[in-house]
Amino acid sequence: MSNKLIKVINLAAGYDGTPVIMDITFHVERGEIVAIMGPNGAGKSTLLRAMLGLAKIFSGSVEILGYSPERDLSIIRKLVGYVPQRENISLNIPIRVKDVVLSGILLRRGPLSLPTKKDMLRAKEVLKSVGLPKDLWSKKFSELSGGQQQKTLLARALISRPRILLLDEPFSAIDIKSQREIMRFLDMLKREEGISVLLVVHDINEIADYIDKVILINRRMIAWGKQSEVLTPENLKEAYGAEVEVIIYRDKCLALIGDRHA
Ligand SMILES: Nc1ncnc2c1ncn2[C@@H]1O[C@H](COP(=O)(O)OP(=O)(O)O)[C@@H](O)[C@H]1O
Ligand SMILES: [Mg+2]
Repeated sequence: MSNKLIKVINLAAGYDGTPVIMDITFHVERGEIVAIMGPNGAGKSTLLRAMLGLAKIFSGSVEILGYSPERDLSIIRKLVGYVPQRENISLNIPIRVKDVVLSGILLRRGPLSLPTKKDMLRAKEVLKSVGLPKDLWSKKFSELSGGQQQKTLLARALISRPRILLLDEPFSAIDIKSQREIMRFLDMLKREEGISVLLVVHDINEIADYIDKVILINRRMIAWGKQSEVLTPENLKEAYGAEVEVIIYRDKCLALIGDRHA
């Protein structure tokens, strides 16, 4: 079997009658951690959503483990764990940590499914594996810190043992210590289970050691490949324009100043 878990060729995708992103071509190999970067509104979330059948594919193709989101959506949703942008998740509903994690399997089984003993054990196991203490199990999700919420959402995505993880801005508004813990955990998943991770990030500096490749987009693909090839002053200017100041030191992108979510 090919080692390319994700293949995207000349993709144009968006909503209703208009593509948001165009000419996107890249692939992700087994056990690769790939960062998607680009300014606000570049279409980063749309790219992830197109892989899950949540945005419309206008032309080109997406293949995930040989399956197409246009034909094989239910299979793809089993193989792929997805954590949407946290700002799009309603955080005020009084749901407990265990229910968030269990929903990762129960929602797939259909309405009114109840967890089995095995599900409970698996939920505890996966919560522990992302580094959350046992006593959070019955806590309200809304009472957790940003880092703990992100780890809980990661546990929810992992409970069904996906082969691929799509994480949309997992590090927005969380502290650097949690960022590093999550990155180390993803790196372990990649090494031990060959899981591939595609994650949208704004600042690559803190996690650069863990990133195998970068996809830089602004509606169109600007570059895809190794950090040193993609994060060049020319490419970054093309992606971010005058919105940001880019600090490059010895060929490494140290900072993008000015491009932050409100
Ligand atoms: N559900 C939607 N329906 C219509 N347009 C959308 C929808 N979601 C996003 N868009 C538009 O697509 C463009 C790219 O958005 P998005 O993919 O969220 O960018 P990014 O994640 O890079 O900030 C934006 O102009 C946005 O307004
Ligand atoms: Mg987004």
